[in-house]
Amino acid sequence: MNPLNHIAIIMDGNGRWGLKNRKSRNAGHKAGLKSVENIIKASIKKNIKFLTLYAFSTENWRRPKKEINYLFKLLENFLSKKTLQLHKQNIKLKIIGKKSFSTKLNKLLKFAEKKTSSNKKLQINLALNYGSKSELINAIKSLVKQKGKINEKNLTKYLETKDIPDPDILIRTGNTTRLSNFLLWQLAYSEIFFEKKLWPDFNQDDFNKIIQKYKFTKRNYGGV
Ligand code: FPP
Repeated sequence: MNPLNHIAIIMDGNGRWGLKNRKSRNAGHKAGLKSVENIIKASIKKNIKFLTLYAFSTENWRRPKKEINYLFKLLENFLSKKTLQLHKQNIKLKIIGKKSFSTKLNKLLKFAEKKTSSNKKLQINLALNYGSKSELINAIKSLVKQKGKINEKNLTKYLETKDIPDPDILIRTGNTTRLSNFLLWQLAYSEIFFEKKLWPDFNQDDFNKIIQKYKFTKRNYGGV
């Protein structure tokens, strides 16, 4: 049976869910947050150590301002209400991506990361303003600047995920089969599960079924 430490998720389909339910795209994001909470609970039950959630990409700035503002408000409210609760549950929150948001959001993120930094039960990596290509470019620049030998081990030290094992599983919901500039280096040998359901419809059963399937997958890492 395969060991399982890290699950990464591209939470796609919020906008379509909102429109399909005769509401707005933003209503889809609100419903998507409920799924986030359910999947955190399921991860704890399954004793997963790392959960990485793609919440906002460097390309998502191309969306209408109203939608961007709504997403960040949702995140602000989530952090204001839930940081201490996450802390009590022994959950660590880490942001990957460039932290350049409003002063209020920057403060909330900083507080949440600091407050939860020693927690051990589950680490949630929230990918926010994250893009894998720019992460790799920055890592290469730093490695060259430090005059380090260019090899896999050294490059990994400069990635935002430097203390995090590579994902065992990537899940993408929303019936779309692409990686969207997410963890391109780290996903080299992850098992990928594309899920037809839209993110707000994705539930703990769906999550557990994927885990079950993963556990009995033969992982070859290029061997036989
Ligand atoms: C992709 O769906 C989803 C996002 C860009 C945002 C993800 C945000 C959440 C799940 C809610 C907030 C989360 C936190 C942690 C506060 P999409 O809008 O691209 O869907 P579409 O493909 O139907 O347009």
